[in-house]
Amino acid sequence: MSYFLGIDSSTTATKALLMDGDGRVVSIGRSEYGFDTPRPLWAEQSPESWWHATIDAIRHALVLAGVEGTSVQAIGMTGQMHGLVLVGRAGEVLRPAILWNDQRTQVECDEIRELVGRERLISVTGNDALTGFTAPKALWVAKHEPDIYENVAHLLLPKDYVRYRLTGEYALDKAGASGTILFDLAVRDWSSEIVRDLGIDASWLPPTFEGPAVTGGLTAEAATATGLSPGTPVVAGGGDQAANAVGVGAVSPGVIAMSLGTSGVVFASTDRPAIEPEGRLHAFCHAVPDMWHLMGVMLSAAGSLRWFRDTVAPATSYPSLDDAAASVRAGANGLLFAPYLSGERTPYPDPLARGAFVGLTLRHDVSHMARSVMEGVAFGLKDSVELIATMTSLGEVRISGGGAQSSVWLQIIADVTGLPVRVVGTSEGAAHGAALLAATGAGAFTSVGEACAEAVEVGPPVTPGEDADVYADAYGIYRDLYPSLRASFHNLARLDT
Ligand code: XUL
Repeated sequence: MSYFLGIDSSTTATKALLMDGDGRVVSIGRSEYGFDTPRPLWAEQSPESWWHATIDAIRHALVLAGVEGTSVQAIGMTGQMHGLVLVGRAGEVLRPAILWNDQRTQVECDEIRELVGRERLISVTGNDALTGFTAPKALWVAKHEPDIYENVAHLLLPKDYVRYRLTGEYALDKAGASGTILFDLAVRDWSSEIVRDLGIDASWLPPTFEGPAVTGGLTAEAATATGLSPGTPVVAGGGDQAANAVGVGAVSPGVIAMSLGTSGVVFASTDRPAIEPEGRLHAFCHAVPDMWHLMGVMLSAAGSLRWFRDTVAPATSYPSLDDAAASVRAGANGLLFAPYLSGERTPYPDPLARGAFVGLTLRHDVSHMARSVMEGVAFGLKDSVELIATMTSLGEVRISGGGAQSSVWLQIIADVTGLPVRVVGTSEGAAHGAALLAATGAGAFTSVGEACAEAVEVGPPVTPGEDADVYADAYGIYRDLYPSLRASFHNLARLDT
């Protein structure tokens, strides 16, 4: 029997998913780590911890399945996007990685807009400069840590540092590379103009590859560490969102991949490099060759409900929170929740945005608040759905992530977005997608589409119901919240030091 591995170096853990030749998940090994916040707004991680976790997770997956490492035919990479890993000439890591959720680079984002011109930046890269992306992080290091910057020889993303430790090769996937905003979206390669304008040395940027393409083979040293065979091919894979889209079968226009994890993502494939003219949506390459995607990202989706449970209803289980929310009518008797607990990206790129309950009365209790948190997150997701609907047609939503276990929340999302919602029962869509890309690269499937058709299992649709009208009204009120509260959010940040 042949097996394939998908490795996901996420923000909190490395997952190694072992898949058989039919695309079925056999086992998942997992090894956790934390990240450091040495200063407010900062988020950093040690690349060495990803490497140790990769070895642990692979060994764990093999033991769980009772499978010999020598039966693994190919490996696919995925992981957190946008993180900056700076590596010197001898492959040494020069400083801790600056992660996607680090918010220190507002000044550098403004500088990039000035150096490149905002319109030109959006038309070439598909994206505005946001604090989460990679390029502003490089400018920050150039300015604040010149001694480190002068030793840089390679600029990598987190999963591609792990790829380097596995294969000895410097290489990036095109989906991840487009999240640096140094990439020409239509050409699917580095933009020499933008790279030059930002004063970045083009020789630091590795070659980029389509998702199923082989980027190298396992070194003897990595083979000994992991228990796999030397020379095992490692394919490019994709950034976590593109790989997750493969894992849930969102590989053709019309099928939306929605992720209801800590953050919330609305992802739509396109067969052309579609760009939202104001840069309010991310536009990146897909992990599927010659496809692209649009994406809206909420920073606090199921994370909002977890915060609510932990702080307001600590003794309550998620199923009881569901029952409580179900006992309240749509619209939570006029209570709205603004879900900007970690700042926001889409459609309001604002690190200082904050959460709010608006419309509280003496009638409201924990049940109303639970429902309004679910509704507020659904409205935030609809903001992205609406923007995407102006660019491409929408058919159905395929949802995954912890929040998708709530049937009440699924119905709310169907009612709010007006789209049928189907659950894909995967907890590890990105790792599964990476394994499917590996299997496609190794020739087990003729295309990524065929791999998805074979492997992805989708639940029955939850269709929009009678509450859709109430939500159309409530969404109109929600749309006014951020513009009305923006100045207060920014003033409140002064008190929060
Ligand atoms: C995507 C994004 C997150 C990170 C972490 O733009 O920032 O999905 O990749 O998961």
